[in-house]
Amino acid sequence: TKAKVLVARSIFPETIARLQAHFEVESNQADDNWSSAQLIEKLQGKQGVFTTGSERIDGALLAACPELKICANMAVGYNNFDLDAMTARGVLGTNAPDVLTETTADFGFALLMATARRIAESEHFLRAGKWKKWSYDMFSGSDIHGSTLGIIGMGRIGQGIARRGALGFGMKVIYHNRSRLDAALEAECKASYVGKEELLKTADHVVLVVPYTPASHHTIGAAELALMKPTATLVNIARGGIVDDAALAAALRERRIAAAGLDVFEGEPQVHPELLTVPNVVLTPHIASATVPTRRAMADLAVDNLIGFLVDGKPVTPLNPAVLAGR
Ligand code: GLV
Ligand code: GLV
Repeated sequence: TKAKVLVARSIFPETIARLQAHFEVESNQADDNWSSAQLIEKLQGKQGVFTTGSERIDGALLAACPELKICANMAVGYNNFDLDAMTARGVLGTNAPDVLTETTADFGFALLMATARRIAESEHFLRAGKWKKWSYDMFSGSDIHGSTLGIIGMGRIGQGIARRGALGFGMKVIYHNRSRLDAALEAECKASYVGKEELLKTADHVVLVVPYTPASHHTIGAAELALMKPTATLVNIARGGIVDDAALAAALRERRIAAAGLDVFEGEPQVHPELLTVPNVVLTPHIASATVPTRRAMADLAVDNLIGFLVDGKPVTPLNPAVLAGR
C-alpha cells in the first residue's frame, strides 16, 4: 500500500502530480494558514510531510503524530525543525541545499547593489513625482567595485557571493565563519578569514549568510552596528533573528550606518514598523531563492527526498542521518 504524504502549503501542480505517482497525497492548494493544531490533525495517519520552511516541527507535534517518519523541507534553512526532537523520535528531516546556491548568491548581490546605490529609494522618489530637476548629489551612494566586502557565514551561498564580489567587481573579500575554509577554497573565493570584530570595522559592505541557531541569534545587534563604518551597508539574506531589527532600525534612522537591505525579518511576515518608515533600507519578502527554475528544483528535491526515503529507504539530503542508522 502507498504511504500517505501531506503537502503543508500550496505548491506547483507538477509537484503534487509527482507525489501522487508514489503516495496517497493530501495537499493544501488553497494555501490555508493552518494552526499547529490543524497541522497535527492533518498529519494523522501520514508518514511524510512536505514543508516549506515556515511550518514548525517540534517535539509536541511529533508526540501527537506517531506515524510521521519524514519531514522534507523545500528550503536550505531548517530552523523550523527541532532536529534533536526529530532524531529522538526517529523522524528524518531533509532540506534542499545546493540547488539554490547560485540563485541565492545572485540575489544577495542584487540586494547589496540596490542598497549601496539606493535603487529602491530613488525609484520611490521618481514614482512619487518628486523628480523636478537633476542635481549633482541626488541619491549618491557608495561604490561596490574596489570596496571591501565582509561576508559573515561562508557556506556555499557565502562562497558564491565572495566569487561574484572578487571576480566580478574587484572587491577585497574578507569573511568570518565558525570554521575557516581550507586554503584551496579560500584561494578560489579570493577571500581572507578575519575575526568578526575586524570584519565589522573594516568592511564597506557586510552580507549575512549564516544559518539561524540559538548561537547566531542577534549576530548583529547594537554593539556590532556600532563597530561598523558610518558609510557601510548591511545585507541580511540569512534568517530573521540574525539581526536585531529594532537596533538596526535605530541605527538606520540615526545614520550610524548608511543603509541596509533585508530579505528576512524577525517574526516575518511581520516587519518591524520602524523599518517601514526609514528611507535607507531596501525590503524584500524573503525571495532570495525565487526564480522559476530554482523554486522548481527545490520542490523537486523535497519530492526526491520523500520518494527516496519512503519508497527506497535512501533520502538524498538527510539532515539527521543517525535516524537511518537506527532503522
Ligand atoms: C521519480 O521517481 C518521480 O516520480 O519523478
Ligand atoms: C530560504 O530561506 C531557504 O532556507 O531555502
